Amino acid sequence: MCPGSFDPVTNGHVDVIERAAALYDELVVAVLVNPGKAGLFSIAERMELLRDACAELPNVTIDSFEGLLVDYCREHDVPVIVKGLRAVGDFEYELQMAQMNRELADVETLFVPTAPQVGHLSSSLVKQIARFGGDVSRLVPKAVLDRLLAQREPGA
Ligand code: PNS
Repeated sequence: MCPGSFDPVTNGHVDVIERAAALYDELVVAVLVNPGKAGLFSIAERMELLRDACAELPNVTIDSFEGLLVDYCREHDVPVIVKGLRAVGDFEYELQMAQMNRELADVETLFVPTAPQVGHLSSSLVKQIARFGGDVSRLVPKAVLDRLLAQREPGA
């Protein structure tokens, strides 16, 4: 599975999802809650945007879970968590989570290095740029762009 906040899904996430989907027969992309991050989109909206972004990937399903990632893995017999690594800055926290998840539930984590052209992307930066009127059209799938633009409209 590919877990994440996906608030919202970016082209960086899509890169990792596509590559994970090519490695396994089935891939679940699941929206989980990161207690350290305040959300812009609801879980339902994030799932809808993910469904749209993954529409061309027949072996990918979208799910969500409020709880520990390892509990989801246990309940659904998930053998491997796939995570993208953008740069060395991601590594320390991702390694810690991978080691913790292995200790808690014996589940493995596979790290995929993101493509260099999306290595600078993050949902937080995308939200910030969109909020102040910057152009994020090359950074996110079309449906996400439309949703971000709609959010900027007065009264939205
Ligand atoms: O996209 P993110 O924010 O980097 O994803 C982080 C996420 C949601 C995968 C992580 O916060 C998570 O696993 N949340 C569920 C709660 C949990 O299991 N926490 C303990 C992690 S060791």
